[in-house]
Amino acid sequence: MHPIPALGLGTFRLKEQQVIDSLRSGLELGYRHIDTAQIYGNEAQVGQAIAASGVARDELFVTTKIWTENLAADRLLPSLEDSLAKLRLAQLDLTLIHWPSPQDAIAVSDYLTTLLEAKRQGLTRQIGVSNFTIGHLRQAIDAVGAEQIATNQVEIHPFLQNRKLVDFARRHGIHLTAYMPLAYGKVMDEPVIRRIASAHRATPAQVALAWLLHQGFAVIPSSTQRANLASNRQALGLRLNAADLAAIAALDSGERLANPDFAPHWD
Ligand SMILES: NC(=O)c1ccc[n+]([C@@H]2O[C@H](COP(=O)([O-])OP(=O)(O)OC[C@H]3O[C@@H](n4cnc5c(N)ncnc54)[C@H](OP(=O)(O)O)[C@@H]3O)[C@@H](O)[C@H]2O)c1
Repeated sequence: MHPIPALGLGTFRLKEQQVIDSLRSGLELGYRHIDTAQIYGNEAQVGQAIAASGVARDELFVTTKIWTENLAADRLLPSLEDSLAKLRLAQLDLTLIHWPSPQDAIAVSDYLTTLLEAKRQGLTRQIGVSNFTIGHLRQAIDAVGAEQIATNQVEIHPFLQNRKLVDFARRHGIHLTAYMPLAYGKVMDEPVIRRIASAHRATPAQVALAWLLHQGFAVIPSSTQRANLASNRQALGLRLNAADLAAIAALDSGERLANPDFAPHWD
């Protein structure tokens, strides 16, 4: 399996010139993993930024996510072909199911079997899921086997540590990607994180990212600011000590930021 690079560039909310600029800076700074989704409405601009960067295709790791309206068997593969055309790619590195089918109207085994077919056809190198609960992961394992699930991309940050899900995924050897790793900027104001950051001459963002990386998760922070993109990358070299890790573990308050009305019943 092609490993998922530990640090990626998020692109949620970034549209038009903003996503082009963010990716141009990120790719210049050495990021090689890009996270987009059909629903972000920016796949064409992501494709434009990749093409303009001159970075070789085999150095890049590009993820997209299938939107809930495209989970039906007759829509999934055409929607992925459409994503590929917008991204100007022949193959995704990773394609995720963005959310479980609302109210489980379509069975996990149905859309994951179709997604596995996309992999067999070469449209994507790897497949995975996002916003899957333990119950959904169990169904996914039954449908295609844990070894087919390259990651479960879920919200994890110091205020939502998602321990039950993390433990389950670890037991089954399923990798996790932490989205909203900075709690959409909220970690910057947290006093404990600020104290740890100043002790390491680091930023609160670097501390939050280093804490996630330490647990073996991939992280996909987003930024519109080149300086933030540059400094976030330095989290790869930050080592937290046991006391830091314990202090951050105590910040879990179950605060969930991404919770649309079609979300599953969380663990
Ligand atoms: N699978 C899913 O359902 C799902 C859901 C949500 C998100 N995601 C993915 O996860 C990615 C990350 O989540 P997110 O973008 O919502 O939130 P995030 O990465 O936790 O936070 C982004 C915010 O933090 C700020 N920021 C970034 N670096 C900073 C720094 N060093 N100092 C100060 N502020 C900083 C950014 O502002 P500036 O622009 O000013 O730097 C932006 O407002 C998304 O882009 C998307 O790709 C996936």
